Amino acid sequence: MKVLVTGGLGFIGANFIRRVLAVRPSWAVVNLDALTYAGNRANAAGLPASRHRWLRGDIADVRAVDRAMKGCELVVHFAAETHVDRSILDASQFLKTNVIGTQVLLDAALRHKVRRFLHVSTDEVYGSVPKGFSKETDLLEPNSPYAASKAASDLLVRSYVATHRAPAIITRASNNYGPYQYPEKALPLMITNFLEDKPFPLYGDGRQVRDWLHVDDHARALLLVLEKGALGEVYNVGGSRTCENRELVRRVLRIMGKPASLVARVEDRKGHDRRYALDGAKLRRLGFRHVHDFESGLRATVAWYQANAAWWRPLKAAGGWRTYCARQYRGRR
Ligand code: NAD
Ligand code: DAU
Repeated sequence: MKVLVTGGLGFIGANFIRRVLAVRPSWAVVNLDALTYAGNRANAAGLPASRHRWLRGDIADVRAVDRAMKGCELVVHFAAETHVDRSILDASQFLKTNVIGTQVLLDAALRHKVRRFLHVSTDEVYGSVPKGFSKETDLLEPNSPYAASKAASDLLVRSYVATHRAPAIITRASNNYGPYQYPEKALPLMITNFLEDKPFPLYGDGRQVRDWLHVDDHARALLLVLEKGALGEVYNVGGSRTCENRELVRRVLRIMGKPASLVARVEDRKGHDRRYALDGAKLRRLGFRHVHDFESGLRATVAWYQANAAWWRPLKAAGGWRTYCARQYRGRR
């Protein structure tokens, strides 16, 4: 089986490829990735060349996509601009990659007659949910340009299913954590800052709630949906634990034995969604169960960043994330 994975040099894509190669010995992966600031060749280090081939290319480039998709029966589409804060500063690349890129891939999937196309999306498309849990049938009410671009891509997928009978499925996952996450996102930024005894900028009152999903559980869920999900359907992939940001910081400080003085209260994110929480019943009916509980998953994640400074130090030294944070969040409260 030949699978096209887009964005496989990023956080979740790389973890997914590792899982697939480990548990499906007869599968080979073509990894189409443009190697943006978020992509990293080190994320694919050690993968067997006979079963994993990286092609550098943009998902919005029809020729690059055609070359990569040739002979593939399955497509798992991760490639995207993914950081909410960046989308607040400049949304243009989010529209190009997340919307146009998805349309180019969908058209190619029809031309190449792929058997299954899995579109990896996010709980952010539902917007902020003050209480209860988002179901797959809920209204899409995205609040950030990132979330809006993902919602647009979900709707495109839906339209290709209805219009062209595209063999597509959508998954919407909550906040992932684990190894290989670029250190601009809250958890790896927090852990790596604390390792350097630097403060973590906590936005606003820190009472926003996120639903934490270990990336390995996400990879398992994606493989299950890819193989057993019903075409045309949407599946939520929720985490094993919802948690306020201020509680998350307290837990990480405790695990790492660091003082509370390392938390710097800063201005809030614009349009900051207060709470995400997913109803995972539909995925459970397909047979999914979490393997990682939150506390041990967090401990293992802290241990991974501790042991892999050679992975994250060059990313932080390159400074992109720092320049970005400094521009947006100058004031401490
Ligand atoms: P990431 O930012 O770590 O990686 C994105 C990858 O896509 C990078 O390797 C990058 O080089 C590549 N890429 C970006 N633009 C491209 C383009 N135009 N052409 C080809 N490659 C391109 O992302 P992630 O956190 O691994 O997220 C992967 C997917 O999962 C995204 O679609 C995201 O919306 C979704 N998702 C993420 C989370 C999360 O918590 N991180 C949760 C739910 C859903
Ligand atoms: O919910 C799924 C989404 O999770 C994915 O679709 C996105 O691609 C992914 O980036 C993530 O979005 P969030 O905005 O929830 O994640 P982030 O890591 O940026 O922030 C998590 C929470 O922590 C959020 O409430 C904002 C807050 N935060 C974030 C950063 C970077 C801080 O307080 N300080 C920070 O420096």
